[in-house]
Amino acid sequence: MEKTLVLIKPDAMKRNLMGEIISIYQRKGLEITHLKVVQPSPELVKEHYKEHEGKPFFNNLVEFLTSYRVCAFVIEGERVIETVRKLNGATDPLEAELGTIRGKYAIHKSYNVVHASDSVESANREIALWFPEI
Ligand code: PPS
Repeated sequence: MEKTLVLIKPDAMKRNLMGEIISIYQRKGLEITHLKVVQPSPELVKEHYKEHEGKPFFNNLVEFLTSYRVCAFVIEGERVIETVRKLNGATDPLEAELGTIRGKYAIHKSYNVVHASDSVESANREIALWFPEI
């Protein structure tokens, strides 16, 4: 069974969108197996986004993700990586289809409401970072 890690980012958490966003995945029929709300450390966020280290937006990205609480959860099921990324929409909310989570709730690439793993390798790495206990 495939697994993916989803983060509801601080912009959405501050706007109290957590329940609404979780319900989109649940109503689709996806199964959340682990979930936590946490304000992550810079170390965790830097490791999570390490492929982007050195890019001009990296420091702002780390500052943003550590600025407030994040909801992290694991979704498990057949082809969940692709399904969740489709539900999320394009990284840049202005390019995301209007029916997607980013299309509905965001307008800026830096504050795009959700993150989801983009491959099996990333999912395994990210789940181990956010849920070392499982
Ligand atoms: S890249 O440069 O194409 O590899 O970046 P991308 O995969 O589109 O996005 C990487 C994550 O960084 C966040 N972020 C930004 N990306 C691009 N430009 C700017 N200015 C920027 N600021 C932040 C973006 O939201 C992606 O986060 P995730 O959580 O992976 O969606």
